[in-house]
Amino acid sequence: MARHLITSAIPYINGIKHLGNLVGSQLPADLYARYQRARGNEVMFLCATDEHGTPAELAAAKAGKPVAEYCKDMHAVQSEIAKGFRLSFDHFGRSSSPQNHKLTQHLAGRLADAGLIREVSEKQVYSHADKRFLPDRYIEGTCPNCGYDKARGDQCENCTKQLDPTDLIDPRSAISGSTDLEVRETKHLYLRQSDMRGKLQDWIDSKTDWPILTTSIAKKWLNDGDGLQDRGITRDLDWGIPVKKGEEDWPGMEGKVFYVWFDAPIEYIACAGEWAEAHGKTDADWERWWRTDRGADDVRYTQFMGKDNVPFHTLSFPATILGSGEDWKLVDYIKSFNYLNYDGGQFSTSQGRGVFMDQALAILPADYWRWWLLSHAPESSDSEFTWENFQGSVNKDLADVLGNFASRVTKFCRSKFSEEVPANGTPGDRETRLIADLEKGLREYEAHMNAIEVRKSAAALRGLWVLGNEYLQDVAPWTTFKEDPDAAAMQIRIALNLIRFYAVISSPFIPDASAQLLTAMKDEEATWPADVASAITALPVGHAFLVPEVTFRKISDEERAGWQEQFSGVRT
Ligand code: 2FM
Ligand code: ZN
Repeated sequence: MARHLITSAIPYINGIKHLGNLVGSQLPADLYARYQRARGNEVMFLCATDEHGTPAELAAAKAGKPVAEYCKDMHAVQSEIAKGFRLSFDHFGRSSSPQNHKLTQHLAGRLADAGLIREVSEKQVYSHADKRFLPDRYIEGTCPNCGYDKARGDQCENCTKQLDPTDLIDPRSAISGSTDLEVRETKHLYLRQSDMRGKLQDWIDSKTDWPILTTSIAKKWLNDGDGLQDRGITRDLDWGIPVKKGEEDWPGMEGKVFYVWFDAPIEYIACAGEWAEAHGKTDADWERWWRTDRGADDVRYTQFMGKDNVPFHTLSFPATILGSGEDWKLVDYIKSFNYLNYDGGQFSTSQGRGVFMDQALAILPADYWRWWLLSHAPESSDSEFTWENFQGSVNKDLADVLGNFASRVTKFCRSKFSEEVPANGTPGDRETRLIADLEKGLREYEAHMNAIEVRKSAAALRGLWVLGNEYLQDVAPWTTFKEDPDAAAMQIRIALNLIRFYAVISSPFIPDASAQLLTAMKDEEATWPADVASAITALPVGHAFLVPEVTFRKISDEERAGWQEQFSGVRT
């Protein structure tokens, strides 16, 4: 039994994610986790909320809640929605957990001991009224370029000019409005990533099987010069992980926290500790996934993320891990994704454009979305969601091909024979050909799933559904029945077994439909087929079944037009 550690990029806490976020990390990660479990492998699938940084503070302020309370509430919201989409995390943690505090401080201490952290003095704006240093975007004032009076210290929203806080005319604190500001010297910590260029280069060069999207981004940043500059890993914020060297205070770092991108990936590890705590497990139980000196050397670790996250996972996080000098597991394979666009534009959280996860579930069950998103995953290029395309896929693939097959076969058997797998009849050449075609298709499907080729996997799966439909079309048991009821019985026996076969192999994509079909076939414990010949005789003569409720319904033109209209504006 192989062991798979799987992580999805952890979503920011500030608000509900849209379908573009979902298809770029959590959903394909879930597909792979479900597939590996179905193949009988041991899986640890982890995700969490990314709770620190300015966006979390700003979102909390907007919601009128203390930031800790806001994060707790939003974690519960995101967790429920993840369940709704059937994301099968072994644990959905929080980057603000005590485990992450401890591990982040520990790793910073190790990096400092290894001489990989330097202290840098910087000039920064201090607000007397707020009693704190202000990050650039917490300072407002008049834009020197266009005169807009609500320009932020990092950028003017009106004319898009990039700014320094000191460029602003009449600067004031965005928190209190106070103009009692002063430029002060303050110290920050920098991770000496540049010292690790050689090690990172060797490591990335050794990953010859990585997707082109991942390696091209990694190499661009590595060779660009800019990408491997030393990186500031501390910030002047209230909310975050206090800067400490292990358990010791860090002189000069009082009141500072680690930068969100320093502690977020460390949460991948800490999350396993949270999992252990939540399930009454020991440290050894989670360390066997993460410590190569404690049993993780035979673990295969796969990460899923959108392309914008690739530099952090190919350079910064590995720099932390390698620099620590400890035996933490490094990622084996990074699957990254391009962007999903929405109806001629971009999905946008800040503008509320597109379909958000809670809205999607409010109009259709998870499997409809899972199927469309995965079968159109933005792998080789960006892809686009349109309502017409969504309607077409659901109606054709799910309702006509798969759903209709299950419904026709079970109803026909009930009306002509009984609600049991019928006896008699001997398979012939057409059945031999069907088995051979399915066998070939199944191996292709498995190969694509093993390689995490998401679209190709979906196409191969759909191909397997189509083979069953073609068979039914060719042998036409409803006609055969009139002349040769035994032959019709044999054809239906095979078709009933195909429903079971489809339910098992489709479970990573459409888990609810799969469970529903297995319940109908009264074989909930069915496992991944070793070969097609045995899979299509798994339900023996006399095995009882039920006609399933509608597995997938069609989307009407009126509904589609209604949703198109409903989701054409912005979410408020
Ligand atoms: O882009 C994002 O949504 C980030 N919150 C991803 C963080 S992934 C990781 F490093 F933890
Ligand atoms: Zn401006």
